[in-house]
Amino acid sequence: MNSLRFVARRAYSTAKPAVVPRITPGLIGAIGNTPLIRLNRVSEEVGSDILCKAEWMNPGGSVKDRAALFVVKDAEEKGLIRPGGTVVEGTAGNTGIGLAHVCRAKGYKCVIYMPNTQSQEKIDLLRMLGAEVHPVPAVAFDNPENYNHQARRHAESLENAVWTNQFDNIANRRAHIETTGPEIMAQTNGEVDGFVCATGTGGTLAGTARYLKEQKGDKVKVFLADPPGSVLYSYFTTGKFDREGGSITEGIGQGRITDNLDQDKDLIDGAFCIPDEESVHMLYRLLDEEGIYVGASSALNVVAAAKMAKQLGPGKKIVTILCDGAYRYQSRLFSRQWLESKKLLTAIPEHLQKYVVLP
Ligand SMILES: Cc1ncc(COP(=O)(O)O)c(C=O)c1O
Repeated sequence: MNSLRFVARRAYSTAKPAVVPRITPGLIGAIGNTPLIRLNRVSEEVGSDILCKAEWMNPGGSVKDRAALFVVKDAEEKGLIRPGGTVVEGTAGNTGIGLAHVCRAKGYKCVIYMPNTQSQEKIDLLRMLGAEVHPVPAVAFDNPENYNHQARRHAESLENAVWTNQFDNIANRRAHIETTGPEIMAQTNGEVDGFVCATGTGGTLAGTARYLKEQKGDKVKVFLADPPGSVLYSYFTTGKFDREGGSITEGIGQGRITDNLDQDKDLIDGAFCIPDEESVHMLYRLLDEEGIYVGASSALNVVAAAKMAKQLGPGKKIVTILCDGAYRYQSRLFSRQWLESKKLLTAIPEHLQKYVVLP
């Protein structure tokens, strides 16, 4: 009995102290520092490590929490908003969700304009988070009724209000220069050979590219991943702004070079255009093989990372972004009727169709 107690006490006293995360100062401190997850099956298939930033683990559930925090911080630093003020943004959803969280945490009101083509889950969540939401007809950027222009006019009509302007406010890109890029360098011990991701505002791609290229020069390659219907693949491969087709992906694809991307467009080494069939197939594979439940832009990024790995040759480390979870899109992405209506059901192999659980 005595000797047993002695052994137990000794085992306890020689154990290394547990690594306990420090206290986080409010929700804001929980943004960023996401895990970098190796996709085991895809990595084996391509002979390189495919490493993914798990951005759905941010408190607002997406990569856009980073941009939301930085555009609000920027407005505060520039004296554009004072306590009790209003933040107004035009957003396809995730930036709005990030802003709604940040605004609650900092005591600001939040007003969101978005195209009415976005999923109901995102609209509902914004309202539950206390934001005032205006879904408006999806019209081109050069139309004064475009959701971004409506957001700007709304902010201009109020006292103590700011239009955070995520597309052309380079505080968005700064979020990734100051957080995503350094995290990737630290998590890979500086051994990152490639980075690829899709763009909405371009903040993630441009900011991360800027930081990685500043650290590693040409030793790291940076590629853009684009869905059909966007002009950027055409721009980066031919110099022309052509667009073809459309895509079921949300939050990505672009019709112009935003100010966030403009700064760093010369850092982009190449581009891929990923058909929806490949993105949807990968979305189901990630669930089945890795237990990872993410939206279509994340799946598109993984397809692009696998293509980049094949292009760079074996033994590399390619990093990409898992932008958000599938929760926001599940009524579409896991519905047989919806997939059939988009002619995407056949893109899912028979053995993965068991995950198509909604009618
Ligand atoms: C789901 C999703 N993926 C990717 C992106 C693109 O990120 P960025 O705006 O940094 O280009 C967004 C942007 O809203 C998004 O909502």
